[in-house]
Amino acid sequence: MSSTQSLIKPPVTSEAPYSDVAGAATRIDPDITHRHPTKVPEDAPAHVPCHHKRTLPIFSLEGKTCVVTGGARGLGYVMAQAFVESGADLAIVDLNGDEAAKSAKTILDTFVSTNPDSPKPTITSHTCDVSNPESVATTFQDITSKHKNGVDVLVTSAGFTENFKAEEYPHNRMQKLWGVNVDGTYLCSTEVAKEWIKSGKKGGSIIMVGSMSGVAVNVPQPQAPYNASKAAVRQLAASFAIEWAPHGIRVNCISPGYMMTALTKKIIDEQPDLYNNWVSRIPAGRMGNPVDLMGAVVYLASDASSYTTGADIRIDGGYTVI
Ligand SMILES: NC(=O)c1ccc[n+]([C@@H]2O[C@H](COP(=O)([O-])OP(=O)(O)OC[C@H]3O[C@@H](n4cnc5c(N)ncnc54)[C@H](O)[C@@H]3O)[C@@H](O)[C@H]2O)c1
Repeated sequence: MSSTQSLIKPPVTSEAPYSDVAGAATRIDPDITHRHPTKVPEDAPAHVPCHHKRTLPIFSLEGKTCVVTGGARGLGYVMAQAFVESGADLAIVDLNGDEAAKSAKTILDTFVSTNPDSPKPTITSHTCDVSNPESVATTFQDITSKHKNGVDVLVTSAGFTENFKAEEYPHNRMQKLWGVNVDGTYLCSTEVAKEWIKSGKKGGSIIMVGSMSGVAVNVPQPQAPYNASKAAVRQLAASFAIEWAPHGIRVNCISPGYMMTALTKKIIDEQPDLYNNWVSRIPAGRMGNPVDLMGAVVYLASDASSYTTGADIRIDGGYTVI
C-alpha cells in the first residue's frame, strides 16, 4: 500500500468509539491492508434527468411512501433518489442523523430544480440505530406521524463490513456487525410488517440489501462474519416472504457486487492493486455504479413486481456466475 498516513489507525481494542466519519464502523486488523479511509467524500446526487419517455405506469411509485435505512449515503442514498424520481415520498433512516437530514434536503432540492412543475414530495429524515429495538420502534412511530398514509416500501440498506482474519475476529465486533446487518434488517422488517398485518394493508414491499458476499467469498479481504451476515439477510427475505405472503406482503433481496460509492472509491484510489484484483474477477469488467441498482429497486418497490416475492436479484456484473 502506498500510504497509510490518511487512514484510520486500527483500534487496539474492539471498544474504539464510533466516529462521525461515514463507514468508520468498518474496522480492520492491522495486518490486513484493506483499510478504511479517515475522510470519505460526500456522495454526489445520482444524475437522473427529468424525462418524458413513455414507461409502463405500473413502474410508477406515485402515492407510495418508501423508507430507506442507511439512506444518508452510499447505495441507500442512490436508491432513495430513485424512489423520489419515480414519484414516491421518502423517509431516510440513518444512525447519522445530520447526514440523513442533509441528504433529504439535497434530494428535495434536486427534485424541485429538475421537476419545477411537479408537486413537491414529502421527504423526511430520522435518526435511528437499526440494531436497537427501541430506537426502531420510536423511529417508525415518528415516520407514520409524518407520513399520514403510512409506509408502503421498506429498503434495509444500513449495514457495514469489517476485515479481520477469522481466527482473530473480536467477538464483540462480530456481534455488532450481526446486530446491524442481521438484527437491524430483522427489526425494521418486522416493525413495518406488524403494522401492515394489523391494518390489513395489502401490497407492502420489503427490499433487503444483501450482497454477492452472501453466496460467494470475496478475495483477498477476509470477512467471514460479513459474508455469513449477508447469507442470513438473503434467507431472511425468503423466510419472511413465505410467512407473510398470506398477508399480501412481498419480501425480496437485492445482492450487489462491488459498487463504486464515495467510500469504496476512496479505498481503491489508495489501493489500486485491490481495485485491479477485484475487477479482474468481474465478467462485466468494471465495478458497479450505484445507479445500476435503481432499476431493480424501483421494480421491486412498484406494482410491476406484484407476483415477485422471495427472490434474490444479483446485481454483480456476473461475479457470482463463474
Ligand atoms: N458498497 C458496496 O460495494 C456494497 C456491495 C454489496 C452490498 N453492500 C451493502 O449495501 C449496504 C449499504 O452499503 P454502502 O456501501 O452504501 O455503505 P455506506 O457506509 O456508504 O452507507 C451505509 C449507511 O448505513 C448507515 N448505518 C450504519 N450503521 C447503522 C445503524 N446501526 N443504524 C442505522 N444506520 C446505520 C451509515 O451511517 C451509512 O449512512 C450495506 O448493507 C452493504 O453491506 C454494499
